[in-house]
Amino acid sequence: MSESIARIVRPVALVCALTALIAASPAPAAAGAHTFELTIQDTVITLVENQKFHTFAFNGQVPGPLIHVKEGDDVTVKVTNLTTLTHTIHWHGLVQNGSWRMDGVPGVTQPAINPGDTFTYHFKAEPAGTYWYHCHVNVNEHVSMRGMWGPFIIDPLNPTPLEKKVTRDYVLMMGAWPSKWAMKPGYGGVPGDVEDYFTINGKSYPETQPIRVKKGDVVRFRLFATSDVLHSLHIHGHVFLIAFKDGHRLPQPIEADTVLVAPGERYDLIMVANNPGRWMVHDHIDTHTTNAGKPMGGVMTTIEYEGVERTDDWYEWKDKKFVPDFYYEESLRKPYGMYENTALKGQPAQ
Ligand code: CU
Repeated sequence: MSESIARIVRPVALVCALTALIAASPAPAAAGAHTFELTIQDTVITLVENQKFHTFAFNGQVPGPLIHVKEGDDVTVKVTNLTTLTHTIHWHGLVQNGSWRMDGVPGVTQPAINPGDTFTYHFKAEPAGTYWYHCHVNVNEHVSMRGMWGPFIIDPLNPTPLEKKVTRDYVLMMGAWPSKWAMKPGYGGVPGDVEDYFTINGKSYPETQPIRVKKGDVVRFRLFATSDVLHSLHIHGHVFLIAFKDGHRLPQPIEADTVLVAPGERYDLIMVANNPGRWMVHDHIDTHTTNAGKPMGGVMTTIEYEGVERTDDWYEWKDKKFVPDFYYEESLRKPYGMYENTALKGQPAQ
């Protein structure tokens, strides 16, 4: 095959693989009931190297524990505030049909939860999709730069044919951090702040983790932008489908290799792992791949295929200690429930 034909055929083969994904069947289940307990704790996390950040972390981790339930489930969450500031929890994207007092907005749907107090949220998990929970007190500080967020995944009663083919599921919550305010809780998150650290699941490269797949996997990436900056995520070597926007299925998924995620948004990408190798995944807002101005850092990781050697002595992650579940990929395979994640825990603040 000539070089020019190969150049055309290869992308066509990729697109055919993606098109073949859009076709298959449904399957429902009975509604469940869940009671979860969350605490809000003054917690110091390390983004990378010596860059620590004082957070108000759910159960002492950033992002917070995974909440994973089925569409229509009855959910009760007891939230205890162990910090010295007030907080609430907003369940971003859940419609709260008939339960508006559970929407978590201080001064609108409830009084803020005082230090030492507990508030119980009770609502129905709907609609299905990729959602998140976050504080709604001083969001400019608590959400944008104190790590007060976690993934809330609601599986659909009737999955799309495309999502039924998924074999691996990853949560990537991207964030940005102005180091000026790192150890000054109660301050910051104001116009003019300079975000100089950027993270996936609370870590900056090289402290992020590789995404390990095998050829033939159908991989779902659930992207979140939690802070005040845009992220433009590029996956090398693959064409993916943008299949869901803010939890909702797109009538016609869009083929792409880069996706822009604005603050608060979520995109679910579905991709066939059909190109064995080692591939960069990074924020194409290029300054977001620095740590305090130094490249390479921030929002970067790699896709590593099973069977591809990692022994090149110049490979930056040749000796990387692999930490499973960094992207909640193992927790997402477990029965419905709430899952803490040791990989994401910080230290109690002094
Ligand atoms: Cu808060």
